Amino acid sequence: MSDRISRILKKEKFSKADIVKLLQTNKEERQLLFAKANEVKKEYVGLKTYYRGLIEFSNICAKDCYYCGIRAGNKNVRRYDISDEQILQAVKFAYDNNYGSVVFQSGERMDKQFIERIEQLLIKSKNITNGKIGITISLGEQSSETYKKWYNAGAHRYLLRIESSNKELYYKIHPQNAKHDFDTRLKALYDLQKIGYQTGTGVMIGLPFQTFEHLADDLLFFKAFDVDMVGMGPYIEHTETPLYHHRLLLLPLEERFILTLKMIAILRIMMKDINIAAATALQAIDPIGREKAIKVGANIIMPNITPTINREDYQLYENKPCIDEGADECTNCLEARIGISGDDIGYGEWGDAPHFKNRKKTDLYNI
Ligand code: 5AD
Ligand code: FES
Repeated sequence: MSDRISRILKKEKFSKADIVKLLQTNKEERQLLFAKANEVKKEYVGLKTYYRGLIEFSNICAKDCYYCGIRAGNKNVRRYDISDEQILQAVKFAYDNNYGSVVFQSGERMDKQFIERIEQLLIKSKNITNGKIGITISLGEQSSETYKKWYNAGAHRYLLRIESSNKELYYKIHPQNAKHDFDTRLKALYDLQKIGYQTGTGVMIGLPFQTFEHLADDLLFFKAFDVDMVGMGPYIEHTETPLYHHRLLLLPLEERFILTLKMIAILRIMMKDINIAAATALQAIDPIGREKAIKVGANIIMPNITPTINREDYQLYENKPCIDEGADECTNCLEARIGISGDDIGYGEWGDAPHFKNRKKTDLYNI
């Protein structure tokens, strides 16, 4: 049996059928997959993990995704919006602690006031860190003009998960309306890439109705789209969301966890020089879940540096880890954790995916 897996792992390119087989590997077989992914990681991006200090600055959200705990329709959420001053303090904290980069994330808003506020925050974040802090933003679907504005203000990486690359499944986990349009989301990803952002996307793993074939297609989608970064995590049901009704269709949490590790490992082999995040949702299932992801190909960790008082209100899913710790405690805890996983930490570096530069070179040749 393992021979079959070894044979697939030797291939230059995986077909959809190969990926499905890799996703279905048993306990013994998957060790081969994990070992190969670690080898590829070592050779192409090095055994090094980069930090992105994550600032979840507001849970006010105009959207209604069926899986998400902070969706507009959930009236039991205490909404918050951290002050600009607190956000900038968190940026300074990341800079002073040599994180190299921060991520701004919040619920989705497209109003003018929000767009301008972000622009100012980006400019100020650069100013208070001598232009040195790397800034990734994860603020949902916006117009191409807004993306450009934010790019010019200093953001250079953008995360926008496609959630599922299968349109039918997409509409099982989102309302089918103008605010949640699959094609608009795809267009947003194209816009980001065209503007010059290092572009990241991703999916949730273990969704109700999701098949191995869907997941294989997701990986092929990342490859075809030629993304620079991917963040994928297990889907974790939230009681106060519509998708909770389908909880009986779900795989046990441990299986969703293993499936996520397999997805990360396969992707590392398929896209050798990209950045892959070890999603926080992994840690909601296994206390050392992110470290396990680092061992099988991930190279980015996003420690939460949101002021602690607001952390418990940013629960996209339940059982979210580290909602009581302050940023200082997270740093100490993480350093110890990454040590266990065998990686070094890329302190003070932006840690851009080599893929971005490699991709740009190829683009130039194509002109
Ligand atoms: N379980 C896991 N991940 C979730 N996200 C939102 N809700 C959940 C959930 N219930 C993820 C989405 C989104 C990211 C910010 O968080 O993929 O893009
Ligand atoms: Fe869409 Fe939260 S409402 S991810």
